[in-house]
Amino acid sequence: MAQNQHNISDLRISYTKAKLNIEGTDPCPIKQFEKWLNEAIETKTAEATAMSLATVNEQGQPSVRTVLLKDFDSEGFVFYTNYESRKASEIDFNPSVGICFLWKELERQVTITGAASKISKDESKKYFKSRPIGHQISAWASTQSSKVPNREWMLARKKELGTKFSDGIVPYPEFWGGFQISPTEIEFWQGRENRFHDRIVYRLEKANWSRSRLSP
Ligand SMILES: Cc1cc2nc3c(=O)[nH]c(=O)nc-3n(C[C@H](O)[C@H](O)[C@H](O)COP(=O)(O)O)c2cc1C
Repeated sequence: MAQNQHNISDLRISYTKAKLNIEGTDPCPIKQFEKWLNEAIETKTAEATAMSLATVNEQGQPSVRTVLLKDFDSEGFVFYTNYESRKASEIDFNPSVGICFLWKELERQVTITGAASKISKDESKKYFKSRPIGHQISAWASTQSSKVPNREWMLARKKELGTKFSDGIVPYPEFWGGFQISPTEIEFWQGRENRFHDRIVYRLEKANWSRSRLSP
């Protein structure tokens, strides 16, 4: 293998900031998630709500991309996207998804496995209306995941839609909305010294959450 100019095989940082044990976690994984997310936001972790979302296509090929968490509760974790995008068609085919939050500044990761489903149109509409107008117009202008000729073409399309909605009222686009991921497994990972990390996993078993420690 070619040698990278930064010698990446020698890049290492030591994780020493915190520990995690079962007694120190909340019996409810959603409450535990809320605690860690709050700590990530309060410690100014960059893009604390950004999560990697993995989906699988008809050929069994996984794909992954970043989306932003916009809401969560005991029912699940919500993000918004174009319903005609690659991720949305993969979810239509197979609702099983994985998400991963990496909070580097806290040496923490949370991974979640579950099933995605569309949220109600009313909820999507409500969130759409709360977005800045520029974001609303971009949602209309984006044919997310499809090939386009060039950036000029995209800008011309956006300008046209900006003119169309110049009265400042942007209707809700039916092809855009939220997905909620109902979790069946949630794992909390805390980096520890010498790669001997702490992992606590919650699994949904007969409507109750179990908690176990996993080997690093
Ligand atoms: C920090 C960050 C946040 C993003 N948030 C979203 C989001 O909330 N929704 C979304 O559809 N795409 C978001 N994107 C873009 C996606 O990563 C992706 O490029 C896009 O959704 C198309 O994915 P797809 O072709 O696999 O469907 C974000 C990208 C980054 C880097």
